[in-house]
Amino acid sequence: MTKEQAGKRIKELSIELDEHNYKYYVLSHPTISDYEFDKLLEELISLEKQFPEFLSPHSPSQRVGGAITKDFATVVHKYPMMSLGNTYSEEDLRDFDQRVRKLLPDDKIEYVCELKFDGVAIGLTYKDGELVRAVTRGDGLQGDDVTANVKTIRSIPLKLKKGDYPAEFEIRGEIILPRKEFDRMNAELAAQLKEDGFSEEEINERLYRNPRNTASGTLKQQDSSIVATRNLDCFLYALYGDNLSFKTHFESLDKAREWGFKVSDKTRLCSNLEEVMHYINEWEHRREKLGFEIDGVVIKVNNYLQQQELGFTSKVPRWAIAYKYKAEAAATTLNDIGYQVGRTGAITPVAHLKPVTLAGTIVKRASLHNADQIEKLDLRIGDTVFVEKGGEIIPKITGVDLSKRLAHASKVKYITHCPECNTELIRIEGEANHYCPNENGCPPQIVGRLIHFTSRKAMNIEGLGGETVDLLFREGLVHNIADIYDLKKEQIMGLERMGDKSASNIIEGINKSKKIPFERVLYAIGIRYAGDTVARKLARHFKNIDALMNANFEQLIEAPEIGEKIAASVLKHFADIEKRKVIERLKHAGLQIEIKQDASNQTLSEKLKGITIVVTGTFKNYERDQLKKLIEQHGGKNGSSVTGKTNYLLAGDDCGPSKLEKAEKMKVKIINEEQFEEMIR
Ligand code: IVH
Repeated sequence: MTKEQAGKRIKELSIELDEHNYKYYVLSHPTISDYEFDKLLEELISLEKQFPEFLSPHSPSQRVGGAITKDFATVVHKYPMMSLGNTYSEEDLRDFDQRVRKLLPDDKIEYVCELKFDGVAIGLTYKDGELVRAVTRGDGLQGDDVTANVKTIRSIPLKLKKGDYPAEFEIRGEIILPRKEFDRMNAELAAQLKEDGFSEEEINERLYRNPRNTASGTLKQQDSSIVATRNLDCFLYALYGDNLSFKTHFESLDKAREWGFKVSDKTRLCSNLEEVMHYINEWEHRREKLGFEIDGVVIKVNNYLQQQELGFTSKVPRWAIAYKYKAEAAATTLNDIGYQVGRTGAITPVAHLKPVTLAGTIVKRASLHNADQIEKLDLRIGDTVFVEKGGEIIPKITGVDLSKRLAHASKVKYITHCPECNTELIRIEGEANHYCPNENGCPPQIVGRLIHFTSRKAMNIEGLGGETVDLLFREGLVHNIADIYDLKKEQIMGLERMGDKSASNIIEGINKSKKIPFERVLYAIGIRYAGDTVARKLARHFKNIDALMNANFEQLIEAPEIGEKIAASVLKHFADIEKRKVIERLKHAGLQIEIKQDASNQTLSEKLKGITIVVTGTFKNYERDQLKKLIEQHGGKNGSSVTGKTNYLLAGDDCGPSKLEKAEKMKVKIINEEQFEEMIR
């Protein structure tokens, strides 16, 4: 193909793909199959690779991301990004209408009603029909430039459809994460955490909280290819420009729709307050059926001249207002308060409720966080309490119906002793939680630490999952992590439902764990505040366990990115004589207690030079990290997600469907560990 032909074909393909993107993501009405779409995209990507001179920043191939933003540049908004006044009742809304009518006594007023999308505000600037910049709201005067990330959102046009758009304008709207995507992300995260040995309580704490926060966090990701995997969406609702010729807001939205923007088809023109109230009530009932979250309705004066006359107060426009729906709430009885003890000894109070239906699910428990929260709510057992689910996964108690309080109900007294081991609880200055200090005698803490130690991300001891560890502890066979290495096959075989084969597997798993590198051993021993990243930094800096154990405070904070809190925690850990004894026994058992200098950075070949591989799932003969290291040692690059730049997806067992689907869609070759071995042989 000549250069000229390639240029022509790239242009054709771009137009065609843009159109299909539009039909799929804006109109929700695709006219070709995913397969056909992928074929066209593949052809485009391959031509752009061969003829990079034709690669445009607005090409549909750019949707997969790949650009990394270390620091988001700050951009001053050309038009300040204001927020809206809030109302919660029909009465408030009538006041708003009265204020408008008083300022425009002779005018006929029309209102536009829109859904109030619960997401992240964004301003998109287009020049000559091309997206040039996307900026977050920030403080309203200046925000962050998140263009690279926004370009991966498929419903946002990179190029506008032919039309009468102004040479330069800004359009604002809301970036949202559809409920389905939010649920999918949480299901994947929960599965991963479960695999890593986290308890249900710990998993709940770590899940994404709600779609809005998650959308906001996603937009701030440094790697745009991660953003591309999240399937964000965007509704636009306001145009800004110096010479816009529209008379009304409603008309401007129609135009924006014609240019290719996703403008909600639920937007409605209303000629009086009754119609507005009707819209509000209608969507309060139907909001559950939308594929995304809304938190109310926005009511805007339609006519631009009227908007201008009404103007702004110091903070908000006088021509628009938000009607906020109340968070979904229900009233139920507080039956009891339970207390959970975590691996670190932290106590979490949990409300036990009379089951009640809330937003389509049955709620039996609500989080209470800590003693202060209970105090603030002034709770009594038997109280009728209000539970709310404001887009959060775990509902919370927001108040008490005092009119229903029973005469004899007495105040909840927070426990003073551990519900598991009866040790007196302590409260550390500056921390909200109570702790059980009985680290070495409190069963959930001991078992929690053991489970952490054997979990996948730590020592990855096969066969030693939560239940087996719990059993070993209850049978008195293990009490601390060093005991694991004294286990005999016969002892394990003596346990309930444990056969010869399973016992052998466990022993084999334990022996295999002696090869786990030092940095993971350090993570596994569970020093407070030393997660996997901190453990890696400590391991690399101190190189072996003795140097770390003997380091003083100054030496600890000298290590890269180690602050005072972590340093204090390391000191405290190794000041404990019992913990030192455990370390000695681990050394004796043959665990890796120093960084293996030789193997870690040694180059083995250049066989994977220029090749990017994404590793996912679990493997028979390797840890995922080992494979990643091998890729580097053979000159290759590791990718974190499948993008246009990925050459291979190295997939093991139990990998989530999303990476596989993506690889198939993008025609990235999927290989298994044997094929990988072949490549580096
Ligand atoms: S108009 C000057 N319309 O709600 C008024 N805002 O609480 C500009 N929002 O900052 C905003 N849906 O992030 C408008 N249909 C909608 C909206 C909407 C959601 C957000 C927006 C705004 C916030 C105000």
